[in-house]
Amino acid sequence: MAVDLIAPSILSADFAKLGQEVDNVLAAGADIVHFDVMDNHYVPNLTIGPLVCEALRKHGVTAPIDVHLMVKPVDRIIPDFAKAGATYITFHPEASEHIDRTLQLIRGEGCKSGLVFNPATPLSHLDYVLDKVDMILLMSVNPGFGGQSFIPGALDKLRAVRKMIDDSGLDIRLEIDGGVKVDNIAEIKAAGADTFVSGSGIFGKGKDSDPHCYDSIIGQM
Ligand code: DX5
Ligand code: ZN
Repeated sequence: MAVDLIAPSILSADFAKLGQEVDNVLAAGADIVHFDVMDNHYVPNLTIGPLVCEALRKHGVTAPIDVHLMVKPVDRIIPDFAKAGATYITFHPEASEHIDRTLQLIRGEGCKSGLVFNPATPLSHLDYVLDKVDMILLMSVNPGFGGQSFIPGALDKLRAVRKMIDDSGLDIRLEIDGGVKVDNIAEIKAAGADTFVSGSGIFGKGKDSDPHCYDSIIGQM
């Protein structure tokens, strides 16, 4: 299985000092930056776009940036995120008219591709495109907001996807997003996840100038 990665979701960071917040979590041991893009259309919230991704790169962030697109339509924003320095670009199958085309577009732009599954979205969307994804992201909350509770049914879904990936022999990361905290991360890992998004479980835990305030969850892995 792949090395475990901790992916702080900057949705819960202080946007007035985003560069410092990201520096702090990376210094504390986080591996990749989870970047939640919401459009007030596909989900009922509005967040950040390619300009902010580019600003993090200009600030000096070299860690992978994991762009989670909760936007519809999805294709036209992909080249902008590639140019802005995205490493992974993941999207929800419900937001794309042509899933295969969108996956090819992401890889064609030089990024790693991924599909995101809401709690009630069936895994059948993977049936014909497994060889075109670098990451599968399972939502353990309904998308749109940080700070929600983990939906336990995601554990069975994780086990099913873990088996699917292992049986395929493909190099695909299995990411979980929503309600991941210090007290459930071990159980989530045991169900098969290897990439752990956490927003409210990591940010806002203490003084933003002290990298050690992020140790509680990052220190688990
Ligand atoms: C929700 C986002 C998540 C969210 C996670 O739509 O995709 O990344 O920020 O936040 P927590 O860890 O607080 O559930
Ligand atoms: Zn997310």
